[in-house]
Amino acid sequence: MMSVSNMKEDQSQQYDDFKKVLLDKGSLHFLIHTMCTAESKVIYVSEGLVDFLGYSSKELIGQSLSILREFQDPYSDHLGSALRCGHELVTDVVNKGRDGTQHAAKVHLIPIPDSQGFVPLFAQIFDHHSSLQPHELDAAAHDISARLQAHLNGYSRITLRETRLLSRIPHCKAYVVADASLPDCPLVWCSTPFYDICGYTAAECIGRNCRFLQGADTDQMEVARLRESVQALTPVSSCLLNYRSDGSTFWNHIYMLPVLLPPRPEDPPGCEAVRRGGGAYFVATQYDVTRFVERATALLVEGGRAFERDPDMVAELQALDEMQRDINSGIRDILHEAAAAA
Ligand SMILES: Cc1cc2nc3c(=O)[nH]c(=O)nc-3n(C[C@H](O)[C@H](O)[C@H](O)COP(=O)(O)O)c2cc1C
Repeated sequence: MMSVSNMKEDQSQQYDDFKKVLLDKGSLHFLIHTMCTAESKVIYVSEGLVDFLGYSSKELIGQSLSILREFQDPYSDHLGSALRCGHELVTDVVNKGRDGTQHAAKVHLIPIPDSQGFVPLFAQIFDHHSSLQPHELDAAAHDISARLQAHLNGYSRITLRETRLLSRIPHCKAYVVADASLPDCPLVWCSTPFYDICGYTAAECIGRNCRFLQGADTDQMEVARLRESVQALTPVSSCLLNYRSDGSTFWNHIYMLPVLLPPRPEDPPGCEAVRRGGGAYFVATQYDVTRFVERATALLVEGGRAFERDPDMVAELQALDEMQRDINSGIRDILHEAAAAA
């Protein structure tokens, strides 16, 4: 039987893991709670929410959700029926602070289904200051739900150990990891700067092939080069026109590197990873090079071979290429390290 101290250790490990996965930086007010028990139990509270309500996270974790609500029966209102049905809902609530103060808020309730479609967890994201636009609250809720789903259900072989290791990579760089063992090579991990560059949220990226960044004016020859490399599991770098979520364009310099891993004991016999002799990821670094491309175009208009006429630009592009290679091989080493330790 699990001892109380083990349970506490597990809870605090889970709290630390959620904090990393959810990129909780303290500004957003949200909590994660279970639906597995008769009463909804709080399993994560954001730093912003504990500060605002005057609790410590220890006082809330493991408590019934009703600690924050004036009413005793959490199923007696709109929120209660959405919880029961596993539905998403935006409504009004009143949260009770530690000193008894009532704080009205808009809440976005979002289910976090497991791989079988059951809803063991919910996230509640609050706007206590009416400072968020509806689409911002919506985006925050979907981002949290997608991150937790990816973390808990594993869209791929990426495990908690790997996500922990990946979070060591400098967070100022845009990079993604796709699982080449899964059909259509979906994204399984994206760094925050990647979301910043393209304007999409985790919910819109995780589980999808990265071609959603391409559009009408993307060079199909470059796309074909990428396709061949993904099929052949070979490295490739490319510069192509990509589209942000708002439809604006940017020139994306990507460098992609395959990472081949040995099969794991838990891989089902006959699965793609085992047939290939191991799992395969693709790691890619993205860099917005719009200003280089604009400069090169201007030089071309002036006549002559653009890059050779601007040594600074040549040096910068070389440095960029090296930086992308370094990051990619750093990520590759991390994935190998995690596989070896599994
Ligand atoms: C890890 C990874 C990252 C990728 N990043 C991008 C990207 O940032 N922009 C892009 O246009 N394509 C990107 N691609 C390429 C597309 O996902 C896809 O492989 C390409 O469009 C060729 O396949 P298709 O012809 O089936 O679309 C990436 C692919 C992988 C595997």
